[in-house]
Amino acid sequence: MKTLSFLLLLGLTRVAAVTHSLKYFYTGSSGVSNFPEFVAVGLVDDVQIDYYDSETRRDVPKQDWMDKVTADDPQYWDRQTDILTGTQQTYKVNIDILKQRFNQTGGLHVYQRMYGCEWDDETGEVRGYDQYGYDGEDFILFDLKTQTWISPTPQAFITKQKWDSDKAFTVSRKNYLTQICPEWLKKYVNYGKISLLRTDLPSVSLLQKTPSSPVSCHATGFYPDKADLFWRKDGEQLHEDVDHGEILPNKDGTFQMRVDLNLSSVRPEDWSRYDCVFQLSGVKNHIVTKLDKDQIRTNWETCGKTGRTRSF
Ligand SMILES: *[C@@H]1O[C@H](CO)[C@@H](O)[C@H](O)[C@H]1NC(C)=O
Ligand SMILES: *[C@@H]1O[C@H](CO)[C@@H](O)[C@H](O)[C@H]1NC(C)=O
Repeated sequence: MKTLSFLLLLGLTRVAAVTHSLKYFYTGSSGVSNFPEFVAVGLVDDVQIDYYDSETRRDVPKQDWMDKVTADDPQYWDRQTDILTGTQQTYKVNIDILKQRFNQTGGLHVYQRMYGCEWDDETGEVRGYDQYGYDGEDFILFDLKTQTWISPTPQAFITKQKWDSDKAFTVSRKNYLTQICPEWLKKYVNYGKISLLRTDLPSVSLLQKTPSSPVSCHATGFYPDKADLFWRKDGEQLHEDVDHGEILPNKDGTFQMRVDLNLSSVRPEDWSRYDCVFQLSGVKNHIVTKLDKDQIRTNWETCGKTGRTRSF
């Protein structure tokens, strides 16, 4: 394979402050076949750290670096498992209560909770949240500022009254979100920092399906997922005739994205004025790939006949 990109290395320091996050997702379901009734996952900086479900009944690490937790805290996984086994029981009870509140007798229902915290490693600022959903709608959420519960649906009002009047519960929620959660987040980031704080630059290639298709600039293998990919003409970012794809995860934990440029109204002699730029957020070095016909990977010659034509 030819070298497809021209690398401009302008220094290797990560300059931006990093906001770290710890998130937990609990999902309870009823009436869904071939799916565990209760599933819990935790994520640090959107990387999955653990997994538990009602069938395995054991909380297990999902990153090698999460094994380091037991060096300081040998009971860690047993304790997590106990907490989640208890939570699983309340989910069963709660989903029955929810069905009653919504006058439902059967069918497929999903009850979810998402909670966690964010921590800015430069300012030290912390943000926490705790919210519950039922069948895809918000059910009840905690307002950390007022330390009260917000119920967007009338069916949650009884719960709001009950939880608001339980001061010990509210105080423990606040304490968890503002103290305990950030403390654990810092611990996890420290265990996983070599992996979490790394920056991987992608390989960038130019692809084209047919001679008249847009040229796709494709970057794959970058980490983290905060990145920008765009086309330039004479050094100016283009906003017209471009189509941005989403950032997609690769199996190995890195990410990929693409941006297409429609060149149908561009004269061949003007192609050299275009290039594609990849930038990782907070990283100074970027990758510039010049638009060059000879560097475009195509697959229109793989079917036996040539698809390459030149205008006279
Ligand atoms: C459930 O049924 C009760 C009694 O029939 C009724 O008052 C209530 O509005 C119903 N709730 C919903 C969510 O349909
Ligand atoms: C490219 O632009 C031309 C007009 O400039 C338009 O006719 C054509 O449909 C566009 N192609 C794509 C794939 O958007």
